[in-house]
Amino acid sequence: MPDPRNLVNLAEIEAAGRAALDPVYVDYIAGAARDEITARANETAFARLQLLPRMLRGGGKPQLDVTLLGSRASMPILVSPTAFHKLVDPDGELATARAVAAADTIMIVAMAATVAVEEIAAAARAATGGHASLWFQLYIQPDLELTERLVRRATAAGCEALVVTVDSPARGANERNRRNGFTDLPDGLACENLRDPRDGESGRVRQIVMSPEISWSHIEWLRGITSLPILLKGLLHPEDVRAAVRNGVDGLVLSNHGGRQLDTVPSTIELLPEVVAAVAGRVPILLDGGVRRGTDVVKALALGASAVGIGRPVLWGLACAGEAGVHHVLELLREEFEHALTLCGGTSLRDLTPDLVRGASR
Ligand code: FNR
Repeated sequence: MPDPRNLVNLAEIEAAGRAALDPVYVDYIAGAARDEITARANETAFARLQLLPRMLRGGGKPQLDVTLLGSRASMPILVSPTAFHKLVDPDGELATARAVAAADTIMIVAMAATVAVEEIAAAARAATGGHASLWFQLYIQPDLELTERLVRRATAAGCEALVVTVDSPARGANERNRRNGFTDLPDGLACENLRDPRDGESGRVRQIVMSPEISWSHIEWLRGITSLPILLKGLLHPEDVRAAVRNGVDGLVLSNHGGRQLDTVPSTIELLPEVVAAVAGRVPILLDGGVRRGTDVVKALALGASAVGIGRPVLWGLACAGEAGVHHVLELLREEFEHALTLCGGTSLRDLTPDLVRGASR
């Protein structure tokens, strides 16, 4: 395993992560829907935006910490939910959870994790010696009893918010997976949150269903069974964003699933100004997709996001050096973000305002 500290940016960590993995799993992670146009656009759209920094503001060391829906994080950079961490590291989500907790930020645990949420939470708490901020990502299942059981488990495990992924009325079409014949987890790995507790250790693991039947009525139902904050992940149309606010959701994750669902939707950073306008300050907006540099974080926050999430970089870090690799990804991004904020003349996140960004549609 290479010493990840020799890798100076997320692109180098990605290269090391790719080199460490079976090419079938590289395709699973890097791949996206169909022609992967949106996946590429997520990154290139950040590069197209320009920063216009302020000078001579006489600030001190920037403060980076945020509180999002009651959960504290030492920086506005979170870990987006990604499935199957044991594909890339034997400790899987346990390694990720330790690294994220040590970096003192929020991990959004995927429903499709290969470790049960209770064990992930225990590993995160052990890493800090106390509290660790975890949220739980949910695909609402047509079987509401199963969905409710999952919500209860995540809540009992200490998850502080639910991130409901709503962009998946059908599974995304990653043609690399089809070409590689990658359809199922290898023997010995399973979505542990879907193991039926009544069947015990050896028990049956339910399949996650991506159902077109899920509707606003399910969000209303969810509101009725939990008091946790509910964020919707994957709304793109401004009308849907307005409906979410009307329906009383607590936050949004502006996400196109890393380009893995419908191809040719806009990049998230391009859409952000429209979504910010639709929300009009009523709930916090998080953004993920293509965040690879501290300047990307600056741009997203300047245009109105409260925080960003990263998906693939975490998996590349995990692949190249396990827990240390994930930790390095988070610390590199923290350092780059703090540096870029300082160079923009900012000392707090409030100093990041839309006038610092050139080229955004408004
Ligand atoms: C994901 N993503 C995802 N999202 C979700 O809500 N539930 C899930 O189970 C997964 N699984 C998943 C697996 C893999 C391998 C990837 C790459 C992504 C999407 C994820 O949360 C996030 O939206 C994107 O990954 C963000 O884009 P970047 O940072 O990967 O460009």
